[in-house]
Amino acid sequence: MDKLLIQGGTRLKGEIRIAGAKNSALPIMAATLLTDDYVKISNLPHLYDITTMLELLGCMGVESIIGDKLEVELNSSTINNFNAPYELVKTMRASILVLGPMLAHFGQAEVALPGGCAIGSRPVNLHIESLKQMGAQVEVENGYIKATSKGRLKGAHIFMDLVTVTGTENVMMAATLADGQTIIENAAREPEVVDLACCLRAMGADISGEGTDTIVVNGVEKLHGCSYSVMPDRIETGTYLIAAAATRGRIKVKDTRPKTLEAVLSKLEQAGAQIEIGEDWISLDMDDQRPKSVSLTTAPYPAFPTDMQAQFTALNAVAKGSGVITETVFENRFMHVHEMNRMGAQLKVEGNTVFVNGVKALIGAPVMATDLRASASLIIAGLVSENETMVDRIYHIDRGYECIEEKLQLLGAKIRRLPS
Ligand code: EPZ
Repeated sequence: MDKLLIQGGTRLKGEIRIAGAKNSALPIMAATLLTDDYVKISNLPHLYDITTMLELLGCMGVESIIGDKLEVELNSSTINNFNAPYELVKTMRASILVLGPMLAHFGQAEVALPGGCAIGSRPVNLHIESLKQMGAQVEVENGYIKATSKGRLKGAHIFMDLVTVTGTENVMMAATLADGQTIIENAAREPEVVDLACCLRAMGADISGEGTDTIVVNGVEKLHGCSYSVMPDRIETGTYLIAAAATRGRIKVKDTRPKTLEAVLSKLEQAGAQIEIGEDWISLDMDDQRPKSVSLTTAPYPAFPTDMQAQFTALNAVAKGSGVITETVFENRFMHVHEMNRMGAQLKVEGNTVFVNGVKALIGAPVMATDLRASASLIIAGLVSENETMVDRIYHIDRGYECIEEKLQLLGAKIRRLPS
């Protein structure tokens, strides 16, 4: 397994471009199952998860044409089976996103039940209950979700018990071809849900309310193809800004969308960062100052995103003062804490809260990544450590961060990949 070797102590300085959003690209790729026409998707990030989704669609017979800039044209009229196998689903939970569109367009879908992962049990009961409310027959047996519908799904008034991003996305996609109106209450408001809705509308769907907690979909007979460019990745953007703040640096991130990061930018300003924003760029300057500790609580958008909790914990670990970070979305998203404490951090977990006493610098050590965002936080910890840090199991990183060592090298970091 590849490892990343980091020599800490340099301040990140310079400019980088942000890639397309993984968590928008994945549902949009699944949405191509809703039409028999070609759908062209551009600004896809070069990530393992994108390749996995292409492989998953491919194994069901969906035709894909890949351009030299990784723009992809997908056509599901060639689909020849409706089974999303466990071998692929176990590597990427977002495979669940093929369930709604495949059921709505083809009347059947068999998707392996995604297991839990490092951050939590991550059930999909709300996806299943909602599709049942729309008239689907859904059984869960032998580790597979088996869904069928006689004729079109029916529009329904759905109340989500919890805010679920992919649950909202699955139902919204299924509703586009249902007979009648579907109202999704307590819907996820994430920008990636909005991006998916915009793509579905470009395919002829009748959707309103995306970005609010109530989404209304009037089903149509069929959807047509379109060309769509995926929004920039707000989590990648925030990760580099937090890394720059932790290293007391000065960076500019381009090709991004500042208004999707307001909660994160506000916390970075509290940490002492000078932030400037433009139409598609954000600059951060710490003026060589040590960051101040910041307390925060994660929650569904527009609150502070759970996907940037680990990265902010790394910033707090070397900040002035003490901070309190509370995780309310997932039940086990502190795996990075134990690794950071091995690097000299002073972090203490009590329930769903981590108490942080900032220290001036960490001490490099061999550490192990456990999940995508925890891996990013360990790289930040390595950047603010004296001597060397070796991060193992970085396949987690390659799932969600495009060319991370190249982008960090562009910003002056001393980091390199050691092939296994
Ligand atoms: C999406 O996961 C993202 N993944 C996650 O990003 C992100 O952390 C998460 O939303 C929260 O923002 C993609 O979009 C591909 P949820 P998702 O359903 O949809 C519970 C990353 O790092 N729940 O919003 O799977 C669930 O257990 C990844 O890129 C149920 O109980 O998350 C969790 O506690 C990690 N039953 C909470 O809801 C359900 O049926 C929110 O989960 C569904 C969810």
